[in-house]
Amino acid sequence: MEEPMGLKQWLEAPAAGVSAPRQPRLNMLRGAVARITTPLLPDDYLHLANPLWSARELRGRIIEVRKETADSATLVIKPGWGFDFNYQPGQYIGIGVHIDGRWQWRSYSLTSPAVSDSSVHHGRHTKQISIAVKAMPEGFLSSHIVNGVPEGTIVRLAAPQGNFTLPDPPPAKILFLTAGSGITPVISMLRTMHHRGSMPDVVHIHSAPTESDVMFAAELAELHQAHPSFTSHVQLTRSSGKFALSSLDELHPDWRERQTWACGPLDMLDEIERTWKAAGISDRLHLERFEIARSAVTEGGTVTFAKTGRSIVVDGATTLLQAGEQAGVQMPFGCRMGICQTCVAPLTAGIVRDLRSGVERHAGDKVQTCIAAAAGDCTLDL
Ligand SMILES: Cc1cc2nc3c(=O)[nH]c(=O)nc-3n(C[C@H](O)[C@H](O)[C@H](O)COP(=O)(O)OP(=O)(O)OC[C@H]3O[C@@H](n4cnc5c(N)ncnc54)[C@H](O)[C@@H]3O)c2cc1C
Ligand code: FES
Repeated sequence: MEEPMGLKQWLEAPAAGVSAPRQPRLNMLRGAVARITTPLLPDDYLHLANPLWSARELRGRIIEVRKETADSATLVIKPGWGFDFNYQPGQYIGIGVHIDGRWQWRSYSLTSPAVSDSSVHHGRHTKQISIAVKAMPEGFLSSHIVNGVPEGTIVRLAAPQGNFTLPDPPPAKILFLTAGSGITPVISMLRTMHHRGSMPDVVHIHSAPTESDVMFAAELAELHQAHPSFTSHVQLTRSSGKFALSSLDELHPDWRERQTWACGPLDMLDEIERTWKAAGISDRLHLERFEIARSAVTEGGTVTFAKTGRSIVVDGATTLLQAGEQAGVQMPFGCRMGICQTCVAPLTAGIVRDLRSGVERHAGDKVQTCIAAAAGDCTLDL
């Protein structure tokens, strides 16, 4: 049987739905406020005092929007209570932006450097994070962000997560292969190594159509100048064509020895994956995909959310997670990429299809809502 909680444990336990920050005193205060004022809507009191204070959810304020290129921008965010600054370089956060009455959630890699525990605890850290967003053609949230999200906007945040991370200490020899917005997790890794003052032997090959499309171009050049052990190779694909992996043998003959991190368009990552597999060095390759590799098509249909009593008609390209969000259902999620299992929900009627593999799931199955779409009318127990 469960032991009853002591007062100290009760105060220190994380408030519902919020991951525990590593500062126990802060958590005690938040827990206390959340519990002592319950059921008198503690969040409302906190929110009145400061919109960044919430005992229920992570929030942040956009304090700077800085253009990187014509179609990309860096957002500097000041997170509110409970944000864990001990993230690893390469991890991503979830960000929710309120547009037209709905919270639109997407994942974005942190571009800010990771900091040491001691600088957080000793107050030497700015307590700010950054992400960089590239507007996708017809992309709803990315275009909204790049084309004018105002400074001062309050956003919701989901805690940093992901396994595409640089270990500390980093390996002696590194290869980064990036293209377009795929540079974002890698710039966090480079900034982290630069801030720590230890740059191992790093080769970074980054591709973009033209010079004006290169995100962080000036910073890459500065890092190249500052660290003899860092080589930045920028491939301008419109004038020089795609970077040929076959040229690695000539340019960096030791590429097989390097721990490699790659992030960019799906076809580029697929080719890298095949090449590393053929070389028998898949264990040295770390990949981050920003989108689901969709290989299946499905019909769509009416998706019903039984517990909340809502339903919505969607096409076969809309995931069940997106459908729920559009219908105003509070959907659990983490990676939104089929990795973490946070979004799993029971399917109680109908058929859905995994957009990556085409595999059908039937009533009685548990489904990952972030990578499944309706194959006809269906009902989820949410
Ligand atoms: C772990 C992770 C980290 C990410 N980090 C970054 C980052 O640092 N910077 C950044 O700019 N983006 C990043 N993304 C992508 C980001 O989450 C959004 O998918 C992207 O901004 C598009 O959102 P949207 O609302 O504009 O597009 P939507 O309106 O959701 O989609 C518009 C259309 O584009 C397609 N689409 C959606 N996303 C992509 C994509 N990434 N590539 C190609 N087609 C797509 C959709 O299928 C749809 O047809 C990351 C994604 C993941 C999973
Ligand atoms: S949100 Fe991570 S698997 Fe669906």
